[in-house]
Amino acid sequence: MNIEIYKPYLDNAKTYKGGKSKSEIKPGADLIKLSSNENLLGPSPLAIAAIRESIDTLHEYPDGNADRLCQAISEYYGDRLSTNQIVCANSGSECLEMIIRAYLDEGLECIVSTPTFMPYVIFSKKLGVTVRDIPLSAESYDIDIDGILSAVNSNTRLLFLNNPNNPTGAYLNDSDVKSLLDQLPDHVVVVIDEVYRHFASADDFSEATKWVNAGYPVIGVNSLSKAYGLAGLRIGYLYANERISAYINKLSRPFFLNTLAINAGIAALQDTAYISSTVDSVLSGRAYLFHEFGRLGLKCYPSQTNFILVRPSMGAEAFVEGLLEHDIMVRSVANFGADGCVRITIGKKEHNEALVKALENIL
Ligand SMILES: Cc1ncc(COP(=O)(O)O)c(C=O)c1O
Repeated sequence: MNIEIYKPYLDNAKTYKGGKSKSEIKPGADLIKLSSNENLLGPSPLAIAAIRESIDTLHEYPDGNADRLCQAISEYYGDRLSTNQIVCANSGSECLEMIIRAYLDEGLECIVSTPTFMPYVIFSKKLGVTVRDIPLSAESYDIDIDGILSAVNSNTRLLFLNNPNNPTGAYLNDSDVKSLLDQLPDHVVVVIDEVYRHFASADDFSEATKWVNAGYPVIGVNSLSKAYGLAGLRIGYLYANERISAYINKLSRPFFLNTLAINAGIAALQDTAYISSTVDSVLSGRAYLFHEFGRLGLKCYPSQTNFILVRPSMGAEAFVEGLLEHDIMVRSVANFGADGCVRITIGKKEHNEALVKALENIL
């Protein structure tokens, strides 16, 4: 017996490769990074001030359970969520990993719909879980509700919904989500990953709080990496009913969130002016880019997020390389299941204009 490898499925598992940093791509160059769906406005000034104020206390341990951050999140949601329903973690990715560890094991199953955020698959496979993929429709990337329902069996424990979805930008409305929730058996918990929810402007966009409060076994997953502009600090949270949240919270590590993350996170949540200018900037950038992509004949998919999925006729790799020659980073998303497509983050006005100028050259 090989004592170095106990779990062959872990040995064979892939590790998630996120988008590359600027220095990994072109060290020293002044790149415009439109490849990781970050907030190009930079962090909230209140978060920066909170970090500065916290520096002198770094010799002390942070709050054990990030209670003050949970409290701030609960205050943000008003009477929709109580502190006991919230579990903080070291990123949205860690929330996903905790949920997977809490509900899945070798022999059990989960359901995903690709193209989507691949850690659902990658993290599950590390536990030897069977992942059933019910792909989005080929042409328009619509969800296949009947396909999902027919993939459920007695071993299914989790269904992942990404709303709005990375990398397609599409959203699920209330009637899609309700139809799924009403038809799923009791042993399936639904994970609604809504890290891009701030950018969903559609009236019938379906937020997970609604389903948690209506008593469904739903877990909402959120991150402060996107609209809150704190990707570098690694802060995420999930919410569900109190029973589910207490159960998942058993997996928390001691002092899992550092002091800077806790204090900056609280400040960012309270910085309503920053969030509204972020959302305004993304929504106006989105309208501008759709218009320009249309003018340039670049095929793109509708988006309720801070990015747009495009299908360049020259092929994804040539498109990514062509933009990099103009010092603009965008991401090919074949590894998300969207062959031939590229995902472009919406930046500030000047970034979007530079992108359009570069596109006029390469298309
Ligand atoms: C759909 C989705 N969920 C979760 C995450 C995780 O975000 P983070 O780990 O930065 O909090 C991301 C990040 O790209 C994402 O796109």
